[in-house]
Amino acid sequence: MRSRFNDPTFDSTAQPLPRFGGATFALRFRIMRFLWTICWALLAAWTPSPLSPWRAWLLRRFGARIDPTAIVRSSVKIWWPGNLIMGKHASMGPGVICYNVAEITIEDFAIVSQRTHLCTGTHDVDDESFPLKSRPITIRSNAWIAAEAFVGPGVIAGEGAVLGARGVATGKLDPWMIYVGNPAKPVRNRKRPAGE
Ligand SMILES: CC(C)(COP(=O)(O)OP(=O)(O)OC[C@H]1O[C@@H](n2cnc3c(N)ncnc32)[C@H](O)[C@@H]1OP(=O)(O)O)[C@@H](O)C(=O)NCCC(=O)NCCS
Repeated sequence: MRSRFNDPTFDSTAQPLPRFGGATFALRFRIMRFLWTICWALLAAWTPSPLSPWRAWLLRRFGARIDPTAIVRSSVKIWWPGNLIMGKHASMGPGVICYNVAEITIEDFAIVSQRTHLCTGTHDVDDESFPLKSRPITIRSNAWIAAEAFVGPGVIAGEGAVLGARGVATGKLDPWMIYVGNPAKPVRNRKRPAGE
């Protein structure tokens, strides 16, 4: 079932929300998220690093499409597994905030380092009802998002792209290019592996 919480094309601005007191998400979904939060706290948040396959299995129970070889550290905060896709050997390091109101895709061998914030949500600041808006994030294969970076709604990090530590990306990152700073600017090309 496609809905506001699993459809990247969903236009939340089409459904004005009351500014005070109104819930953005349906009660059923809020209950499911509550269950997810409890399950992660009880069954995963305390588990040691080598138990990543177990955490991936648990994420799949809640709808994540995640390869068994993907690495998800126990201190990662995932808003909703149903909006998470991870490829072979893709990884999310300690303390990553995965705010996936819209879909987040981390392709094969892509790395998201510690305390990075992957943030798919924002608000329409010009609308007095302040509606939630969300756009998917895609991190293509072999890309590296370094420590404590901020990756905003709609970002597509191209294959092999690098976002340096504490960089802030709000748009597209070209393949095999290294970006640093806030806002992220390209500094140089990254050497491609032989055969790429
Ligand atoms: C982005 C990065 C990979 C670039 O490495 P590099 O190619 O060796 O680049 P350099 O160190 O030669 O730096 C190139 C320029 O970018 C600047 N720069 C590098 N990283 C930067 C960053 N994160 N933020 C801002 N500027 C940065 C350097 O100061 C230098 O500027 P200059 O040419 O004016 O002197 C590296 O700096 C980085 O951020 N690594 C991430 C570390 C990390 O997150 N570790 C945790 C996971 S293990």
